[in-house]
Amino acid sequence: MQSDKPLERPDNPNFGSGPCSKRPGWTVEALAGVAHGRSHRSKLGKSKLAEVIDRSRATLGIPDDYRIGIVPGSDTGAVEMVLWSVLGARPVDVCAWEAFGSEWAKDVVGQLKLDNARIFEADYGELPDLSQVDFSHDVVFPWNGTTSGVRIPNGDWIDSNRTGLTICDATSAVYAMEIPWEKLDVVTYSWQKVLGGEAAHGMLILSPRAVERLESYEPSWPLPKVFRLTKNGALIEGIFQGSTINTPSLLCAEDAIDALKWTEAQGNAAGLKKRSEANLRAIATWVNERPWVEFLARDPAIRSCTSICLCVCDPAVGALSKESQNAFCKGIAGLLDEEGVAYDIASYRAAPPGLRLWGGATVETSELERLFPWLDWAFQIMKSRLQA
Ligand SMILES: Cc1ncc(COP(=O)(O)O)c(C=O)c1O
Repeated sequence: MQSDKPLERPDNPNFGSGPCSKRPGWTVEALAGVAHGRSHRSKLGKSKLAEVIDRSRATLGIPDDYRIGIVPGSDTGAVEMVLWSVLGARPVDVCAWEAFGSEWAKDVVGQLKLDNARIFEADYGELPDLSQVDFSHDVVFPWNGTTSGVRIPNGDWIDSNRTGLTICDATSAVYAMEIPWEKLDVVTYSWQKVLGGEAAHGMLILSPRAVERLESYEPSWPLPKVFRLTKNGALIEGIFQGSTINTPSLLCAEDAIDALKWTEAQGNAAGLKKRSEANLRAIATWVNERPWVEFLARDPAIRSCTSICLCVCDPAVGALSKESQNAFCKGIAGLLDEEGVAYDIASYRAAPPGLRLWGGATVETSELERLFPWLDWAFQIMKSRLQA
C-alpha cells in the first residue's frame, strides 16, 4: 500500500464525469475551421450542423429511417422536449435508480402531473426489476445511471413488438455501450460525455414510431417554442437536417466534428466502446487488489464502464457517520485536486459517499494506471488523519 507520494503523475488530470476529458491530443487548434461570425442558417453554418448529424449516424450505425436532430439545452433539453411532446397518450412507466432517472420521474409526476404513471425505483448501486415494465405503456429510463455507476446490461428485456414508446436518456452510454437502436424509439445524449465535446446542445434521435406519435398526438398542455418538434401536425424535418430550432453554437458544433473525426480514427463507436471497457477492466483489477475500496454496483453485469462509482469499504471509515464518510471521500478527492493529479472525482452530491472516475473513451487507460497509486496515497493520508 502506497504511503509515499507517487513519483509519476497522470499527464491529464481530467477524470470527471461531465464535462468529460477532451480526446487525447486535443488543443484549441481543433476549432480552427469554425464558421465564426456566420449565420447558422447560411449554407456554411447549416453544412456544419448537417456534418455533425451525418458523422453521428455513420459512427453510431443509426438506422437510416431514424431522425437525428441537434436541439437546445444539452441532454436535459432533448429529454424534456420529448417528455413534453409525446407523453400523455398512454400510461407511463419510469425506471429510476439514481439522480437523473429520478429527475425524469419528477417531470412525469410532479410537472406533467400524469396520474397514470408508475415509477420503478432502486437504490444507488442497483437496478429496479425491469421485468415489471409494461411495453404497452410509454417507458422512460436512462441507459446508464451516471450518478450511481449502474447501467442496463442489454436490451433483451425490451419488447420488440411494443405498442408504447421507449424513451432512453443515453447520455453517458452512447459511444461507450452497445445501443440496441431498434428497441429504442427516442435516444438522447450530449457531446460533453463520451465524445469529450462541449455541452449546450443535445442530440435527439427518433425512430419512425416516435415520429408517428409526434405527428398524431397533441398534448393538452402548451409547448414553448424550444420544445416544438412539429408544425401543423407534421414533423419539422429541417430540425433533423441542421436547421436548428434556435441559434446553436457553431464553436461547439466544430468541436463535435473534431470529436467525431477522432471517433472515426478509433474505429467508430465500437472502437470507443473498447477503450471504455478497457478502462473499466483496469479499474476492476486495481479495486480487486485493494481492501479499502469497492464498486458501488456489486453486480459486475450492471457496472458502468463510463461513470465508475466506488465506495470506501475500510472498516474504520465504515464506522463513521454518513456525513463523516462523505468528508473522508471528499478529502481524498480534495488532496488529489490540490496535487493536480485528478479533478472532479468526488461522488455526485446526492449519491452515497464515494469516488467517481470517468472511464469514457477519451480517458487513456495508462492515465488511470498512473492515478491508482495516488488514490492509495490519498486514502492513506486521510486514514492517518482519522487515527491522529
Ligand atoms: C444520465 C444523465 N442524464 C442527464 C444528464 C444531464 O445532462 P446535461 O447536463 O448534458 O443536460 C446527465 C448529466 O450528467 C446524465 O448523466
